[in-house]
Amino acid sequence: MIVQDTITRVIDSAVVEEVVGDYVALKRRGVNLLGLCPFHDEKTPSFTVSPAKGIYKCFGCGKAGNSVGFIMDYEQLAFADAIRFLAKKYNIEIIETENTVKEQENIDLKASYQIVMDFAQNYFSEQLHNSEDGVAFGLSYFKERGIKTETIKEWQLGFTRNEWHQLTQEAEKKGFKFEDLEATGLIKKNDNDQWFDIFRDRVIFPIHNAQGKIVAFAGRVLKKDEKTAKYLNSPETVLYKKSKILYGLFKAKNEIRKQDKCYLVEGYLDVITLHQEGIENVVAASGTAFTEEQAQLVKRFTPNMTVIFDGDAAGMKAAFRSIDILLSYGFNVRVIAMPEGEDPDSLCQKMGADKFKQFLEKEEKDFILYKSELLMQESANDPIKKSEFVQDILKSIALIKDNIQRSFYIKECGELMQIDEAILQGEMRKLLGRQKEFKPLDITEKKDAPKQFSPQQLEKEGIQEQEKALIKILLNYGEKPFSEDLKVADFIIQQLTEDETIFTHEIARQVYEIFLEEHTKGLYLDSNYFVHQENQDIILFVADLILEHYELSAGWEKHDVIVISHDTNYSKETLSIIYHYKFKRANQLLFYTNDVLKEVTNEEQETILLQEYQSAYNIKKQIAGLLGNIVG
Ligand code: CTP
Ligand code: MN
Repeated sequence: MIVQDTITRVIDSAVVEEVVGDYVALKRRGVNLLGLCPFHDEKTPSFTVSPAKGIYKCFGCGKAGNSVGFIMDYEQLAFADAIRFLAKKYNIEIIETENTVKEQENIDLKASYQIVMDFAQNYFSEQLHNSEDGVAFGLSYFKERGIKTETIKEWQLGFTRNEWHQLTQEAEKKGFKFEDLEATGLIKKNDNDQWFDIFRDRVIFPIHNAQGKIVAFAGRVLKKDEKTAKYLNSPETVLYKKSKILYGLFKAKNEIRKQDKCYLVEGYLDVITLHQEGIENVVAASGTAFTEEQAQLVKRFTPNMTVIFDGDAAGMKAAFRSIDILLSYGFNVRVIAMPEGEDPDSLCQKMGADKFKQFLEKEEKDFILYKSELLMQESANDPIKKSEFVQDILKSIALIKDNIQRSFYIKECGELMQIDEAILQGEMRKLLGRQKEFKPLDITEKKDAPKQFSPQQLEKEGIQEQEKALIKILLNYGEKPFSEDLKVADFIIQQLTEDETIFTHEIARQVYEIFLEEHTKGLYLDSNYFVHQENQDIILFVADLILEHYELSAGWEKHDVIVISHDTNYSKETLSIIYHYKFKRANQLLFYTNDVLKEVTNEEQETILLQEYQSAYNIKKQIAGLLGNIVG
């Protein structure tokens, strides 16, 4: 592990405009620098770097962070590796703590497995290109399937002969440890205690991680009527966690970023053929059903995913499962169904690249609408089936986090399925209230998160926007005097503590808690502190708050949020924001209790709710008075 001191030195030395400047041509624009965003395709620059604040933000695609975050994002490195990368650039010596025995074993194991993987890849390629059988069966197989020599090299494809001890002998000659080959699934012992090759008489697809290192192999049988499994895949090792690997991602990532879109297909050859034909933003979930970790991987590059699937029942079922994962991770999901009996590889080879691209464009459908249409066709004369399908679609829609998008879909589905929108809305409320059966992995999740309000209510009331405004004022003016004996932060904390308020915005809450903890020690953290620590979610959140785009600032008003514009008058702003916030929270509580009251049958509960309602009403009235508003 790198010691904290080194990390701090690197973060302090890595000047954001220098680091970003290695990748992006930057021009000065006022106090900031401006350039074309490297994370999405754009013609007019909206990528802003603030030397003073040590952060960058793209106002086109929303990417933001500090210099370390930039390297993590651009070079696809983990935090520690980004620190090493920057340390090299700035000639800073990396000091590491002694690894524990376990950690060291893991590192050593990874290193030896990597060597074994590279050896095996060389061997498989060698066999393909330079052995008699390799040329006769392997190369001709790839040729038959329309894979060009160039492509074979690029994807490091290989071949193994129908022979039991070739790789074993080769490994022995080169002095590799058999345990390492065994652990990586390349060889095995038979009953006579003899080692033998596992991959035999197959073409080989190496599987790379996001950095392009080989971590596993897939071997495909050459003949169609083979009794053995069509594909043989390496087992999981310290190098290879299949739920975290997407086939082709190392080659696709730049194009995914540029096109701001990713195609998800099913097979290795689908990925390879499409890349060969110039469609390079394509990946596949290799040898596993699509996972949440894979969704997270892609999310770093784009929120737009188009799932291409076989039009048959099995393909569709698998696709629907992946799609629910994607929806819950906030992807905009589109689908393309392949004609019966075809997959992207076969269809692209058949049609040719141009026609195939047109096909993709023409056939691409919004997922929810596709699903509703399909299910409606299937259940045309069967009301029971129809209502099951409606529930099914609603469950998918419920996974969407964006409220506006969700209500759009409800409306659209209502029309498609000829069901009253209000009924669908009612069903949706029930679904959302039940708290999702499907819960996305959330690294930032906390147990004490307030759960009583649906996301619509939160957003409708602009509550989270107010929370951001509060954090902004805390970080910008926290230490300034608010009254004779209070600083701005003291006042805000006092007010929020009084009401036992817990922020509903996940990251805002984390920032606030950190702020609070330091505050008890008499410290007042500012934005500088938050953009120079390790948590990338927080960096992004804070960078977003403090780097306002001059053109975009008008947008704040739409949310009915107070914008802090000048350094003067911050006391008044503080008061205004805190009261607006309290008002909205009280309003929200009213809204909520009112809703629940309608459904409550138990008298005791009713009494409690009525009391809550009354107290929320009083708070609202009181604050309204303070704000000079009138309670409607
Ligand atoms: N797969 C697997 N193991 C199997 C079968 C399939 O891991 N026994 C995975 C592979 O990633 C494969 C994908 O599922 O690429 C799709 O399978 P399939 O459609 O059967 O094969 P294709 O990739 O289309 O292979 P080909 O075109 O060569 O028949
Ligand atoms: Mn295929």
